Amino acid sequence: MQGFRVVFNSEKGRPTPLMRRFDRRAAAEAAAFHRGFGEYAPTPLTELTDTAAVFGIGNILVKDESFRFGLNAFKVLGGSYCLGKLLSTRLGSRELLDAAELRRRAAGLPPQTFVTATDGNHGRGIAWAASYFGQRSVVYMPRGSAAERLENIRRAGAEAEITPLLYDDTVRHAKAQAAAEGWQLVQDTAWEGYTEVPLLIMQGYLTIAAELHEQLAGRVPTHIFLQAGVGSMAAALAAALRDLLGTAPKIIVVEPNRADCFFRTAAAADGQLHAAEGELDTIMAGLACGEPSAPAWELLASCADAFVAMDDAAAARAMRILAAPAGADTRIISGESGAAGCGALFEILHDTQLREMFGIDAASLALCISTEGATDKQNYRRIVWDGAYGNE
Ligand SMILES: Cc1ncc(COP(=O)(O)O)c(C=O)c1O
Repeated sequence: MQGFRVVFNSEKGRPTPLMRRFDRRAAAEAAAFHRGFGEYAPTPLTELTDTAAVFGIGNILVKDESFRFGLNAFKVLGGSYCLGKLLSTRLGSRELLDAAELRRRAAGLPPQTFVTATDGNHGRGIAWAASYFGQRSVVYMPRGSAAERLENIRRAGAEAEITPLLYDDTVRHAKAQAAAEGWQLVQDTAWEGYTEVPLLIMQGYLTIAAELHEQLAGRVPTHIFLQAGVGSMAAALAAALRDLLGTAPKIIVVEPNRADCFFRTAAAADGQLHAAEGELDTIMAGLACGEPSAPAWELLASCADAFVAMDDAAAARAMRILAAPAGADTRIISGESGAAGCGALFEILHDTQLREMFGIDAASLALCISTEGATDKQNYRRIVWDGAYGNE
């Protein structure tokens, strides 16, 4: 398949002390915190049994994060958990306070400003969580961000604007503003000297792993597809699922060809992080990140089997398959970044050589996370209804 690149991870198994922060205990703590929100419900794990039969694979499971807290994406899990930890500390508690108690007590504090950069979903999650706890938020977006995503962030309570910058420069802008204004930066990617907040955000994502463990009820996927922007979600889930499942399914990390920083880092295998350069021009806006998060790489170097980079066409096709699956399968509304994991799976299933390369056959059980719904409806319809995408 043209435009579909694979590199197997030569560093797999490299030990890292970070694994301890992403174990079953951490997953249980995140899940217990999120259960304290009135909006909480586990997101569905959908079985695409008829679609799997068409492709000749044992089964395909898709966890549908479009149902998360009414916010259409998984990202709020990280922001809410991180704010929960930071506000608990500010209230003098060494333990993470229950969400309801935290809400009550934080309302009595002078409001603090939380600032972040986002291509949409993370910023919406921070805006929502800050408002929930009676705090203020400021959100910066890269150039080209969808108007609907900006509007949703504002509606969730943040002051938000689209900057003329690319994603990684928008992060630097948020960092500079935090320093200048005395705001708390809550970024979902780490760099030297800034790791604790991103690690808390990553731990928040573990609620997905805890729910999956329950929903799988003893079944063990053979292949797990995790899409990566800065890699925080993929790394957290890869690490925790290994501990929760008690075995190591094949972990495949998926990126757009035009924002392939993990692919480059794995291919170089020289102990350095490698950024993707250029415009990062992809429909997978949530994955359009040029610089990998350092702790995410450390975890993925230890847990991932392969890194895949693919064209926008693969994500677009997955959006259409999920919108109109085979037989009696439940349809899944999956956005451009949301469908990326399934996109890689379907590309592999369409190609005999790739199936062999990944050891996928009639006995395989694949798991993907649809990390967002249609967060940019106009583009969703262009892709699913009109079969068009990108700048066509
Ligand atoms: C829908 C969606 N999926 C996946 C990701 C990737 O997450 P991460 O940046 O932690 O790799 C993002 C990031 O914003 C996203 O919005």
